[in-house]
Amino acid sequence: MKHLIDILDFTTEEIDKLVATASDIIDDPKKYAHACDGMILGTLFYEPSTRTRLSFTSAMMSLGGNVLGFSDAASSSVSKGETVADTIRMVSAYTDIIAMRHPKEGAPIVASGVSRVPIINAGDGGHFHPTQTLADLLTIKRKLGRFDGLTIGLCGDLKYGRTVHSLIAAMSRYEGVKFVLIAPEELKLPDYVKSEFLHSGNYEEIASLEEAIPTLDVLYMTRVQQERFADKAEYERLKDSYILNKAKLSGAKETLSILHPLPRVNEIATDVDDDPRAHYFYQAEFGRYIRMALILYLIEKKGEPTKKAEATLDETLTCTNPHCICTVERGIKPLFKNGNCAYCDQKGEKK
Ligand code: CP
Repeated sequence: MKHLIDILDFTTEEIDKLVATASDIIDDPKKYAHACDGMILGTLFYEPSTRTRLSFTSAMMSLGGNVLGFSDAASSSVSKGETVADTIRMVSAYTDIIAMRHPKEGAPIVASGVSRVPIINAGDGGHFHPTQTLADLLTIKRKLGRFDGLTIGLCGDLKYGRTVHSLIAAMSRYEGVKFVLIAPEELKLPDYVKSEFLHSGNYEEIASLEEAIPTLDVLYMTRVQQERFADKAEYERLKDSYILNKAKLSGAKETLSILHPLPRVNEIATDVDDDPRAHYFYQAEFGRYIRMALILYLIEKKGEPTKKAEATLDETLTCTNPHCICTVERGIKPLFKNGNCAYCDQKGEKK
């Protein structure tokens, strides 16, 4: 059985296959209309969502299947203190595949350890959002025709923007890709993402969006993630750090692809929406087709043996990340991989 927790759970060949299947679904949706007849997708959303939850629902229904779950954990027994592990044990007895979103980093890893069915990470805190990345990749492929050799500007909240972390992980595996990181000092990319995927030859950091725009093939704007800030005054100070508008696009390439995982707040002015290079609504629409391809693929892989996790128990280390599932839920073993917490990827500290 295969789960999707981190985009790196898939090889580039698997990603190419998903993108090709999604393109085939777009061209001939009728062919897939009964592919999941009689099957059930569980959607467990412990955090708000419009696109991810509804596109997963639409994806499963378009494959002939059904959907059950919750969009507000307060309406489930989570409100009585039930853990992620126990919730998943139960829901995996009622479903064939589960998509879950949780505010704590690593929650889908805990889920995959006890689930009888494939787990899809639909966003875990500020950590990863691999299915958004699949939608991003499908959009890039359909709009620009390639992944190799692209210069990608990532602008806004690169610290808490989980879609950015997953996109860098995926795109850094393609030949000649360069990243231009555009963020205020307080919202720079976390070190664990930088050290794993970036090196002196494939990225630069730049403060000015206007200066970066002419060099870019893709401009990936992001929202400042209000819900991750402990200090609301700091959010107010940073929230409008970068605003893309039509005037700022004057020096941009004709072929630029402007992406945003959405929802947007102020970071893209509405006067950009009718620019032919504004691809963010297509990106959200494509999310439905790539999630159809993903459901089909994971269900196809259900009979295969599950790959063993590489992480090990290390009694000498502790995870101090307050956003990690292992620091807040009872009964989770402290697992580490190369000194980093196996749930949130942050560096472990000596006890
Ligand atoms: N892009 C994205 O995850 O949107 P939602 O929060 O609406 O699901």
